[in-house]
Amino acid sequence: MKFAASIIGTGSAFPEERMTNDDVARKLMKHGIETSDQWIRERTGIAERRISKVDDEAEYNSSLGARAARIALETAGRSPEDIDQIIYATCSPDTPLPSTACWLQQKIGASRAWVMDINAACSGFIYGVVTAEQFIRSGHSRTVLVIGAEVLSNFINWQDRTICILFGDGAGAAVVERVPARSRHRILSSYLSSDGTLSKLLYVPAGGSALEVTPERYAQNEHKIRMSGREIFKVAVRTLAECALRALEQARVPAVKLDWFVPHQANLRIIEAVANRIGFPMNKVIVNLDRYGNTSAATIPTALDEAIRDGRIQKGQTVLTDAFGAGLTAGAMLFRR
Ligand code: ACO
Repeated sequence: MKFAASIIGTGSAFPEERMTNDDVARKLMKHGIETSDQWIRERTGIAERRISKVDDEAEYNSSLGARAARIALETAGRSPEDIDQIIYATCSPDTPLPSTACWLQQKIGASRAWVMDINAACSGFIYGVVTAEQFIRSGHSRTVLVIGAEVLSNFINWQDRTICILFGDGAGAAVVERVPARSRHRILSSYLSSDGTLSKLLYVPAGGSALEVTPERYAQNEHKIRMSGREIFKVAVRTLAECALRALEQARVPAVKLDWFVPHQANLRIIEAVANRIGFPMNKVIVNLDRYGNTSAATIPTALDEAIRDGRIQKGQTVLTDAFGAGLTAGAMLFRR
């Protein structure tokens, strides 16, 4: 194999509006449903999230993605014209057709690129980077822009207190580029898995080609996310630990040699349980869910970008990313910056 792939720039963007736990509690209270800042913090670690303004084009999924992409390109020293391929990981697209990648391409003007979406829910960014790596290693692409972005607030039933407390909107981006196979700075290993038998643990029943959104289904909120939180919690801890250990094993990197762990930001208790299982200290785990909640495909690229920007993740350090999401999809990717 002549080529490897390296992450050479990252960026992130969030909507302006901050919604604190107290704001969520007030919103729920209007429907006679109780929650509290204390309950949400203790059970999830989340303090606030960002929510896109309804019908404001500046805060569409593709617009947040475009903002993150421009920052990632600038950091990498690349222009939109340098991009061969765009992979947009999202489960909350701007439109069913065309892909959100097409809207983004129009916004950033990457006219040479061919573009597509990937829907692997919260695992989408890792699936996207690993897909980019395959196109790069085969010699097909040199420079790939990978986005993980969501506006899931539009798919939330704001009267379901087990769901609306968790999610937030945001976008992260990474420029992944060809490097020599022996480069020190490259993706070292990855492990992906899916278990479609668990699809109903987290899904949106109506709005696809299977079930049309009729007035009756709309009234029942069948176009919004349904989730079995407790079951997902258990599967998540087991699956994340397994993916992490397999990726480390494949690269022959013991957990003690790892510099940073950037897990999917779904629940602080899940993150702590996984860090414990793989034998990794929490002070080397990157966490941003306190401020942004679960932004699905955007959690890993935004956490990564923040930790690179504030100087925690240094050039030459080894970083493990790890995610699970609806499907159930899961995956881990290990790289040296
Ligand atoms: N405020 C107050 N009380 C609540 C709330 C709330 N927001 N939500 C639930 N409760 C109550 C329940 O009704 C229950 O009451 P009961 O004991 O009287 O029946 C009690 O709190 C405990 O409920 P549990 O569901 O057991 O609470 P748990 O500790 O499991 O926390 C949570 C729930 C936060 C949803 C947790 O299960 C979780 O994080 N699961 C994982 C979900 C997840 O990660 N989803 C994203 C997947 S990634 C993707 O692809 C998008």
